[in-house]
Amino acid sequence: MDRFAHFNYHPNVAYGVDGRLATASKEHIALSLQAACEGMVLLKNNNSLLPLKKGSSVAVFGTAQFDYVRGGGGSGEVTVSYTRNIYEGFKMKEEDGLVTVYEPISDFFRESVSARKEERGQGARCDQPVIPEELMNAAKKSADTAVLTICRYSWEGADRKQGDDKGDYYLSESEKALKEQIAKYFDHIVVIYDVGAVIDSEWFKADDRFEAVLMAWQAGIEGGLAIADTVCGVSNPSGRLVDTFPDSFDAFPSSAHFNDSQEYADYNEDIYVGYRYFESFPKQKKHVNYAFGYGLSYTDFEVKCESVKVVSDTGNSASVKGPAGDTIVFSISVKNTGKVAGKNAVAVYFHAPNGKLWKAARAMGLFAKSKLLQPGESDQLELRLPVREMASYDDLGHIARSAYVLEKGEYEFFLGADVSQAELMSFTYSVAEDTVTEQLSARCIPHRLAERLIGDGSYEKLPTDDSPITGRSTAYNNWTVPTGRVIVHDIAACRKSCGTGATIDTGSDVVNEVPDFLKVADGKQGLDEFVDSLPVEVLIEMLGGQPNTGVSNTFGMGNFAEFNIPNVTTADGPAGLRINAGRGVTTTAWPVATMLACTWNTELVEQVGAAGGLEVKENHIGLWLTPAMNIHRSPLCGRNFEYYSEDPVMTGKMGAAMIRGIQSSGVGATMKHFATNNKEENRMICDSRVSERALREIYLRGFEIAVKEGRPWAVMSSYNKLNGCYTSQNCDLLMGILRGEWGYDGMVTTDWMNWSAQVPEIKAGNDLKMPIGEPKQVLEAYEKGELTREEIAVCAKRILMTILHFS
Ligand code: BGC
Repeated sequence: MDRFAHFNYHPNVAYGVDGRLATASKEHIALSLQAACEGMVLLKNNNSLLPLKKGSSVAVFGTAQFDYVRGGGGSGEVTVSYTRNIYEGFKMKEEDGLVTVYEPISDFFRESVSARKEERGQGARCDQPVIPEELMNAAKKSADTAVLTICRYSWEGADRKQGDDKGDYYLSESEKALKEQIAKYFDHIVVIYDVGAVIDSEWFKADDRFEAVLMAWQAGIEGGLAIADTVCGVSNPSGRLVDTFPDSFDAFPSSAHFNDSQEYADYNEDIYVGYRYFESFPKQKKHVNYAFGYGLSYTDFEVKCESVKVVSDTGNSASVKGPAGDTIVFSISVKNTGKVAGKNAVAVYFHAPNGKLWKAARAMGLFAKSKLLQPGESDQLELRLPVREMASYDDLGHIARSAYVLEKGEYEFFLGADVSQAELMSFTYSVAEDTVTEQLSARCIPHRLAERLIGDGSYEKLPTDDSPITGRSTAYNNWTVPTGRVIVHDIAACRKSCGTGATIDTGSDVVNEVPDFLKVADGKQGLDEFVDSLPVEVLIEMLGGQPNTGVSNTFGMGNFAEFNIPNVTTADGPAGLRINAGRGVTTTAWPVATMLACTWNTELVEQVGAAGGLEVKENHIGLWLTPAMNIHRSPLCGRNFEYYSEDPVMTGKMGAAMIRGIQSSGVGATMKHFATNNKEENRMICDSRVSERALREIYLRGFEIAVKEGRPWAVMSSYNKLNGCYTSQNCDLLMGILRGEWGYDGMVTTDWMNWSAQVPEIKAGNDLKMPIGEPKQVLEAYEKGELTREEIAVCAKRILMTILHFS
């Protein structure tokens, strides 16, 4: 096949098994089901109610059994041909002879859902009908177990609500009434939560009437079957929480000020996000209902640390001596001591000594998952923790300004997946002297964040000033939907002049022939030389998005057929492909990112990435706008379902696995939203005000891991501002940290239709503006001398380099 043939001709090539289509193939749907089963988190299982005994009869309550939410909305939607709902899942288990479903109760909820017609908003989903008492009486006579289904739906551009009576974080009044009604009649109740983010757990935690609770997340195309498989014991749950479930919304450290302002969000809790907060402050620990890492199984495991050794970095002649070059190797054995097969996850957490910098009482070192273990079988896991990863960033110069520092003292380690139960290990690691592991520079400094939480529970004052923030631009919001290429120059004339050998304004030499990108692709011409041969107008236009082709509906890049530059189109993720539904192609919906993280299984996530990537490729799309990697700072963020976790290491490892998988299929991953897009309301202007330390240790850490371990082809800057400056215009962030410190050499694109201006974006190293650029403004800036040809060419080269990845 010709280089770029995929994009130019959309050939009819199938990449699946035995020459079949990979897109929505039975293999991919089976993998989606497997990931869904593995991400189920069993929160409660009193009296071993689950798995249900063979032959149990269930009455399934709640509209969610039909109105099943397989994933969130907005760009996180997926184009599918069907979704297996919970009712259907149980009916399939009925066919297998495992359970029987009491139909009149399901009929009642089916009617209630169809009476709502098109109304599928959050309010409707939380609104549950009252069941006639005679129907309840009849149900009780026929069914031994009640299954209560509860769903939530959220989408981009809006945050969730606490919802004290209407329901969202908390149950609605009608949901509360329904659970009480069920509890009056049934002795055995299983609760299924079909949700995309943390939700209230206080109502069932200590209430014995609700014996079993399954955190079933939003589990993709076969979600209803994954739920029924888990409830009936076809699958043994091995998911573990990747967020803390406290006893109330108010218990989260971000809650009090989450909605203080439309214009900014102050990250005063600093590094104390999620379990780092609950574990570090004894008064807060008692508020935890289900801790990070919690999750029950139908079997039991024995987890032991067999050995710990410290190895030095002897990889090359420049090897680092001392703590910064050491790696601690933990050998952990996991044995299934129960009666059914299962998998188990383990983690090693660490506690760095408090010195001049306060530390979180627990921080994730590493995690791993065992293989499927039959009863009596064991697995050995090796967790390698580089010591430098336990360093803290000193932003105020308590020890060494703008450096990662390992403070002297004893570093302690804790073994176990559940952070609140992890056991202190006998091994400690000693650091004799304060050691700088990496000297960096002050970047993305907050100017308006007054104070931050520190480990003694008080607030440390931060330097503030009224200085104008560099890189800030006026909001640009008169964007119109592009209908085609915006012509700011005459391509035909340009082509003619290239072909006739006339001098064109390339800023360099006379060009004698039509520039041909295929020569660069074939290694016959250097990229620099090729770019030098293009007129500046072409380069400018290349920095903006290009029209859709094929099934894509999020636009493309490149698109100069004249020069053999293909139009490489994009498609959303992260839970599957969101493409033009009118084109007749349907795809696989994977479990949402949070659920994938709950598998604690990076190999599985890599497989999902590879399968998703193949669907991208088969549909002639080049870049998948996946993975989304912002931190779960608050349960209210409307896009948490698209993000992995409250923990940056979990986020980074999952993101890296996803990227490796996607790119192994020959298409590009786009790591987004870089960075601090942790709330959705007013995201186009909201300023995330965060300390340099929390930024680096919490909000950038996952991205850093993903860049270093996954090497994504593209990065998407976010809509919001970071410490006063739009991330897309933030030279400190894009040039200083991303490219300078982390060595990222790929392309950066804006998020779609952001409100920032393109000229300062180009200067800051944001290469592409999507879905369309601002060529007129850029050309004007060039003509006025405010932007150089070189600044434009550098961005164009990074876009072309990305296109060169495809073959
Ligand atoms: C979202 C991105 C998405 C893009 C394209 C934006 O609204 O924030 O995550 O990739 O749209 O659909």
